[in-house]
Formats: sequence, structure tokens, C-alpha cells
Amino acid sequence: MGKKFKFLPTLFAIITIAFIAVGCSSESSGGSGGSSSVDVGIVLPTKDEPRWVQDEERFKAALDDSDYTTEILFSQGSSDKEKQNVETLISKGIDVLIIAPHDGAAAGAAVEAAKDEGITVIAYDRLITDTDAVDYYVTFDSIAVGEAQGQYLIDNAEGTGIPLYLYAGASSDNNAFLFFEGAWNVLQPKIADGTFVIANSSEAEALKEKAELSRDELGKILGQVTTNWDPNEAKNKAQTHLTAASADLKGDISILAPNDGTARSIADVFGKDSAITSYTITGQDAEIASIQYIIDGKQSMTVFKDVRTLVTDAMGMAVEVLDGNTPETTGSYDNGAVEVPAKQTDVIVVDQENVKAELVDSGYYEASEFTGLE
Ligand code: BGC
Repeated sequence: MGKKFKFLPTLFAIITIAFIAVGCSSESSGGSGGSSSVDVGIVLPTKDEPRWVQDEERFKAALDDSDYTTEILFSQGSSDKEKQNVETLISKGIDVLIIAPHDGAAAGAAVEAAKDEGITVIAYDRLITDTDAVDYYVTFDSIAVGEAQGQYLIDNAEGTGIPLYLYAGASSDNNAFLFFEGAWNVLQPKIADGTFVIANSSEAEALKEKAELSRDELGKILGQVTTNWDPNEAKNKAQTHLTAASADLKGDISILAPNDGTARSIADVFGKDSAITSYTITGQDAEIASIQYIIDGKQSMTVFKDVRTLVTDAMGMAVEVLDGNTPETTGSYDNGAVEVPAKQTDVIVVDQENVKAELVDSGYYEASEFTGLE
């Protein structure tokens, strides 16, 4: 599901965006239609992860000088709260809903309620699955994220028989499947040829000769190595795995960590084990704390997903819809029920070599947010 991004023969036309309005972040913004009228509702999964606070900040930064009003609400990791948020926004008269679901399948009910009111639904970063109530999807290339993570481990591996510890995101998030699938695409041949030895997943071990895994097979591996996107769960799992690991699964090792929040806590656990002589560990999101970890040599890489682009694409689509036009898309994702027209953005690998150029010199972050940056 959602595996193939099919490029349609459309050109990447530049949408000129008259950007949207007004104060947001869990507060209503006063629109022209009355004190609580809102044109575009934005629902994000949780404030507890820096990734989504980044999105909130970038939305706010993009929301100046427009005729349209917006409101951003957070679901705090609860599908019930998410549904309430959508209902609140429906009651405020939104015409467009931009939503990154907490749980891609459970969010179906919320977006169906919006659809029933004639609202255009844009899935943001995470696909909403098994419903026809999603009109558009704006996303990063999530398969490429996983491939970049896997390739980084390969490029930094020396010798053979290197213990490989696998971790994944939450099974309720379609992206977790895409990330793992991407990583598997590149890692599997290197597992099959003995470069890597899987250290912590009997399910992955049993499937190591298979280049392409079904959703069910991926689900089995995820069931074993999921972090649920929770740094604490990641830490506990890493501890359990290290306690169980024999000496030949220590030494110089590689770790596939799905994102920055989980990477930092897994790195902390492995970094404290004296039998681990070195580790290479992946991440994603370019969170400030992980950029510091990369500068300090505690996390090897991150996949930078420029949230400004996703925000621009989502708001651009919303404005097109509000203006009565059909938004530009560049492909589609199968969500299990329909092909959802999509716009996809590339990602950038960041490590010690290019961290300053990509994230500081580019103006994405301030140098003053870090120590030891050269
Ligand atoms: C996002 C990642 C994020 C993860 C945990 C995924 O759907 O694409 O950027 O780290 O969720 O919130």
C-alpha cells in the first residue's frame, strides 16, 4: 500500500502562492466571515515530538499576508482527540483540512466526517489509509528516506559479519512501512551476502533471502522492532537487545534507527556499553538535538526533510482549492481504497561532512543553536 509513487507526465509548475493568514496554534484566527470562521484547518499528531513542532513553526512562518484564515490543532497521540479536533474545525466552517494523522487507518473516520461536509482533505506527510475521503497527499519521498538510511550503513561498514540492529517506527503509521521497505531494498542484499548479520529480529532473519517483502511480512518485522516512535520504548528495546546479545553481536556495529528521537535514545544505550567499540546509527528529521549529536559524533547521520517545502506544498494546494482551481500533483499513492493524487518532495542526507552547509549556512537553523560547530 502506498508503495509506488507513480510520476504522471505533469511538469513541476510553480504555484505562485499568495500565502495564508493569521495567528494559529490552537487558537482560532479571526477571519473575514466572523469571529470564529476558519478557512483552512490544520491537524498535527503531537506537540511532544520536535518534528511536529517544526511543522507548526514553519506553518506559522508561512501564514502571513493572506486573505485566508487558518487554525492549527494538535492531537497529542490520540485518535479520539484527532477526531474532536476535526469536528471543532468543521464547526468553524473550514473548506480545507490539512491533516497528519496519528494513526493512518483510524483517521479514516475523522476525514470521512469532513468529507461529508464537502471539505477538501489533504493528508500531510502521513497517508490516511483505507478510505476514499482523502483528496490529496503531500509528502516526502519516504522510500528514499529508508534507502538513504540503509545506504549510509552500507557506505560506512567495513568488513563482513557486522552486527546490524534494526528498529522501526509505529505500525499505525504508513510511513514506518515505507521507511523500512526503503532500508530493506538496499540492506537485504548486504544481509544475504554476509556483510551484515541481523542481531535483534528473528522475523527479519527468517526473511533475509527475500528482496521484496509483502505488507504482512514487513508488519511481522515491525511488530518485533517497533519503537512506536517513542524514545522511551526505543531505549527499553535497545537495552533488552543488548542484554540478550552475545559477544559476537557486539564490537563494531550498525544500527538502523527510524528517526532522530529514537536514534538519540538508542545511541545513548549503545554508547554506554563498553563491549560496543563503535556504532553507525541513522536518523531522520534533522532535529536540533540530533544535529548536536551529529556534531558531537554521537549520531552518524540524519535525513533532512525540509519542512518548509511540505508546508508550501500543502498551503499551495489549499489556496488552489479555495480559489476554485485543481491543485498540481506529480504522482499518486494507493491508500488501500483509492489512488490519492500526491505531490512528493526529495530528501537530503546530512552527516558531519555537510551539516554546517546544509543546515546552518543555508539559514535553516542558527549557528548559535549549536556548540562545537566548525
Ligand atoms: C514522519 C517522521 C517522524 C515520525 C514520528 C513520521 O510519519 O514522517 O518525520 O519522525 O513520523 O513522528
